[in-house]
Amino acid sequence: MNRAIVLSRHPKGKVLESDFKLDERPIDSCDQGYFRTKNLWISLDAGFRHWMAEGAGDNYLPGMQIGDPVQGVVIGEVVESNNIEYPVGSIVNARTAWEEISVLNGTDLCTKLSPSEGVPLHLYLSTLGLTGMTAWVGMHRVGHPKSGETVVVSAAGGAVGTVAGQLAKAAGCKVIGLTSTRDKADWLETEVGYDIVIDRETRPNLDMTLREVAPEGIDLFFDNVGGNVLDTAMGQLREGARLVLSGAISEYEGPVEAISNSYELVTKRARMEGFMVTDYVQDFPMILDDLGNRLAEGTLRSFEQTYEGLSETPRAFCDMMHGASRGKCLVKLD
Ligand SMILES: NC(=O)c1ccc[n+]([C@@H]2O[C@H](COP(=O)([O-])OP(=O)(O)OC[C@H]3O[C@@H](n4cnc5c(N)ncnc54)[C@H](OP(=O)(O)O)[C@@H]3O)[C@@H](O)[C@H]2O)c1
Repeated sequence: MNRAIVLSRHPKGKVLESDFKLDERPIDSCDQGYFRTKNLWISLDAGFRHWMAEGAGDNYLPGMQIGDPVQGVVIGEVVESNNIEYPVGSIVNARTAWEEISVLNGTDLCTKLSPSEGVPLHLYLSTLGLTGMTAWVGMHRVGHPKSGETVVVSAAGGAVGTVAGQLAKAAGCKVIGLTSTRDKADWLETEVGYDIVIDRETRPNLDMTLREVAPEGIDLFFDNVGGNVLDTAMGQLREGARLVLSGAISEYEGPVEAISNSYELVTKRARMEGFMVTDYVQDFPMILDDLGNRLAEGTLRSFEQTYEGLSETPRAFCDMMHGASRGKCLVKLD
């Protein structure tokens, strides 16, 4: 039997652990062209919350259905194979589900990993995985930070945010992060390397605080949050600013907040651009090399919070969504 975390109901508002349940189900057959993986790590990604909602589904992914294993990205080891490209013993990274065993055919963002010696496997879901790629693509393909510029990153303490902030710092920028609590802000300043971090707990007036810490205005806004946070940043741009839309987590669990500062894009000759990391797969080997080199040199640090066992996955996901985790949130399977 396979064990999986399935959706027990569509989350409404804040996702709850009770929106999920552990289920046992027969293992799918491993037909010609397919291979079976024993999953080792599960990545918890905020973006998937969007496709958990009732009626969700779009050009990018289908909406999740009640009773189905929850979609997610995993690292697994091939234990049975009827696909010559993925022999037994291969390590793969794939978009599949929160489950112990997957039966795959090599599609759906499936890649065979060649882990470098001494590099822990889970890094290929965090800084060396889609998380790190997202930060790198958003920063260097869309945002183009220049030395001396002021960069602001929202959800700075999360998986993408911790990498994005370090990349901007390495580019010689003044880097300002936004997060929930003072405790997390202190950690971001002392451990992750942000110059200044504004927390909602002690500095709830973001507009005023941003003006205090960045009176020169914002050159690059790397946005994971959307809504009021994006609108506030839009009101404080410098000429030629870039707004990198990575995500809009404030909208995944709450009402969409109106944008009122869009005319600022005109007068500041600013550029706002959304991106999906999966559109840059051809660049992944080069980005992987760059991120790997930075990690090896010690100019980039990877931050993870790990939970143990499949049954912890709902808690890990809720913690990640609600700011209780730091860096990349992962589940290690038995
Ligand atoms: N474009 C792409 O291709 C792509 C790919 C991957 C991820 N993403 C996006 O990247 C963003 C981060 O994803 P992730 O997986 O790395 O998650 P994450 O940042 O590790 O976790 C999400 C964090 O967002 C913050 N947050 C939650 N609700 C918020 C709200 N209402 N207002 C402000 N902050 C809030 C929380 O931290 P605090 O403690 O700071 O509140 C939470 O820990 C998401 O928007 C996701 O959709 C984009």
